[in-house]
Amino acid sequence: MSDVHIVVLAAGKGTRMKSAVPKVLHQLAGKPIIEHVLAAAAALSPRSTTVVIGHQAEELRSALARHPHLQFVVQEPQLGTAHALLTAETVLHGKRGTLILLSGDVPALSAPTLQSLIQVHTEAAAAATVMTAIVPNPHGYGRIIRDGGKIARIVEEKDATGEERQVQEINAGIYAFDLPGLFDAVRSIGAANAQREYYLPDLVSIYRAGGRRVETVTVNDPVEIQGINSRRELADLARHIRRRTNDTLMAAGVTLLDPDTAYIDPDAVIGTDTVIHPGVSIEGPTQIGRGCTVYPGVRITRSRIADDAAVLDHSIIVDSSVGPGASVGPFAHLRSAAEVGPHAKVGNFVELKKTVLGPGSKASHLAYLGDAVIGESVNIGAGTITCNYDGSRKQTTRIEDGAFIGSDTQLIAPVTVGRNAYVGTGTTIREDVPAGALAVSAGRQRNIEGWVEQKRKKASE
Ligand code: UD1
Ligand code: CA
Repeated sequence: MSDVHIVVLAAGKGTRMKSAVPKVLHQLAGKPIIEHVLAAAAALSPRSTTVVIGHQAEELRSALARHPHLQFVVQEPQLGTAHALLTAETVLHGKRGTLILLSGDVPALSAPTLQSLIQVHTEAAAAATVMTAIVPNPHGYGRIIRDGGKIARIVEEKDATGEERQVQEINAGIYAFDLPGLFDAVRSIGAANAQREYYLPDLVSIYRAGGRRVETVTVNDPVEIQGINSRRELADLARHIRRRTNDTLMAAGVTLLDPDTAYIDPDAVIGTDTVIHPGVSIEGPTQIGRGCTVYPGVRITRSRIADDAAVLDHSIIVDSSVGPGASVGPFAHLRSAAEVGPHAKVGNFVELKKTVLGPGSKASHLAYLGDAVIGESVNIGAGTITCNYDGSRKQTTRIEDGAFIGSDTQLIAPVTVGRNAYVGTGTTIREDVPAGALAVSAGRQRNIEGWVEQKRKKASE
């Protein structure tokens, strides 16, 4: 399949989304709709991939800037799908091989289905091959009109007769075309129809009239060719993808206590014997090892959780990592770039940001640890705070192996607490603590005998 070129149509407006965000940039299963299409396209190792943009072109261009190999062509104004394809001629002029035309808003299309489209097209040496589906409710789609079993033409809903509207075989809007001669043929398409648009499906009758071969490939699962036109369709397709992902995970040995409320993106990887409780979101390319437990209400985004770790209820882990056998939560927040070491513990109401918590170290309750490098077997007492921000810059706190930080300690960074040092409860650390030393800063306690009784007397005078 070396001679494949791809064009993705994405210039249309997406009116029914009622959104300021371009339709194809709405999130579906962890990434923008069009990213699903581009992923299926990339699996074909095409020679080129061109995206036709128009409506909100600049937003799309910048949202897709991380794909350096994409080419963009602008269709302005948008006069229909045939006109959209013609704008790609500047990129594809004189090219040979097969053009695969995709729609930016049809995200469930799989790479194997695209491969079978190319195979049928190539084996039949067709000029065009149309992907079709048989659906119970064909409303809104172009209908496939056959003649002696062969595709004769495609008629749009708005131009169809009552009888044609009964046809349940629809045009998916996905095609394979033989490149030589394609653009000349597309140029001959007119706009004499109900919408005064240049319809690409008209190419079928033009090719048939010219005696050129047109084939069809019918998908097994119509969901693959479902376009997203509204928020309702977006939610329905998201649920479908979620189910498919969850079924795959369960088949591979992951326990989902309630698959209906397990929101796991398809890019996540989860090991065997991991147990996922209800109401959990696992987003982006997150990796979770074997034998882990993820309790209810947890969100894990773009993170790595090693084997046998536990993430307790209502914790949030973003762009962070958790080592083997470690425990996080309940109500913990690994905000970003947190590295929780092997068998370490992050407990209730503890927040970590850009912080390494070394192997076996514990911060069991109520702490903020930001921009800190914490060694092995360190104990962080309840209420410990790294004062990492001096109003203009972030500063680092270092706590070396075996140190003990008493409760209610403030560490005013930059500061270092040495190996096995001991910081007394209620200390404000402004200077480095040498290894093995005890640091205390709280004043001596005074007790004033009879103070309450005296105060009461004064008030009653
Ligand atoms: C199109 C097909 C219809 C098919 C259906 C499948 C035509 C005329 N009809 O209808 O037979 O059943 O798809 O979903 O092709 N676009 C542009 N520029 C334009 C117009 C459209 O880039 O000028 C893009 C849209 O952004 C979209 C795609 O082309 O990604 C399809 O356009 P849309 O208007 O949704 O076509 P349908 O009416 O759904
Ligand atoms: Ca559409």
